[in-house]
Amino acid sequence: MPTAVWRSLPLLGNARLDGQHTALQGEVQQLAEDIQARRSADHLEASLALISQRTVEHFHTEEELMKAQGDPGRIHHADLHRELILQVRRIQYATAKGEPLREGVAAFLGDWFEEHVLKVDLEHVAYLGEGETPSH
Ligand SMILES: [Fe+2]
Ligand SMILES: [Fe+2]
Repeated sequence: MPTAVWRSLPLLGNARLDGQHTALQGEVQQLAEDIQARRSADHLEASLALISQRTVEHFHTEEELMKAQGDPGRIHHADLHRELILQVRRIQYATAKGEPLREGVAAFLGDWFEEHVLKVDLEHVAYLGEGETPSH
């Protein structure tokens, strides 16, 4: 069975966000390949932990930009981010208890990112700007 390959994501025009999207998609693709190659559970869990951490960082970047620009839809957008993080935490909890990471996990993550960027991030592009996250 071929390993999933997701379409390249549309660019938002913010180099930092676009770079994070591309990197996350690449890491999920790598996870899909590693699951298919039956890499060790420790390796897969470490990869998922890294994806989880980078996803949190990415969401934080986006949410700070929306906040700085006064995006009226930012609360709903952040809720969608939080739901994904909770899902990933649930998966991590299950793997920590010995449940194997299956290809469906990478497929779920890859599909989620693709759909989220296309249907949600793009709608907020006016508030995501071209610049960097404002420093605190
Ligand atoms: Fe995003
Ligand atoms: Fe987003």
